[in-house]
Amino acid sequence: MKISSKITAVSLLFLLGSALGYAAPASENWENLCTKCHGADGKGLTKVGKKLSLKDYTDAKVQADLKDEDMAKVIVDGYKDKTGKEKMKAYSDLTPAEVQDLVAYIRKFKA
Ligand code: HEC
Repeated sequence: MKISSKITAVSLLFLLGSALGYAAPASENWENLCTKCHGADGKGLTKVGKKLSLKDYTDAKVQADLKDEDMAKVIVDGYKDKTGKEKMKAYSDLTPAEVQDLVAYIRKFKA
């Protein structure tokens, strides 16, 4: 009896958690999903980032040339080069709020 009510309580918590939807903060998403290429500092100077010749998000000119909508689109749809080869995967499982937060997070790299 005791055990089963514990199980009920735990599964209720899980249900509640998934109903609310878990949205990770931008710093966490950036760390887990993006730093491998773009770097923790947004400069894109990681091993992979250098190979892909990524933009430096601390560069004011780079930031000025970026549009929020385009950034969000790349995050959701991914990035393919001219030959159609995927260079950045689509993060389509992020919520719209998470995508917006990531865009805002990238904006803060500007020196
Ligand atoms: C496998 C390497 C890789 C990973 C991981 C990666 N990206 Fe990218 N990203 C790229 C490449 C390649 C480009 C295209 C070249 C560029 O714009 O510097 C790009 C472009 C972008 C752009 C578009 C900038 C523009 O020119 O409009 C944004 C925004 C962006 N990435 C954000 C993210 C975010 C946020 C994550 C994590 C959720 C992420 N990237 C993860 C490789 C990666």
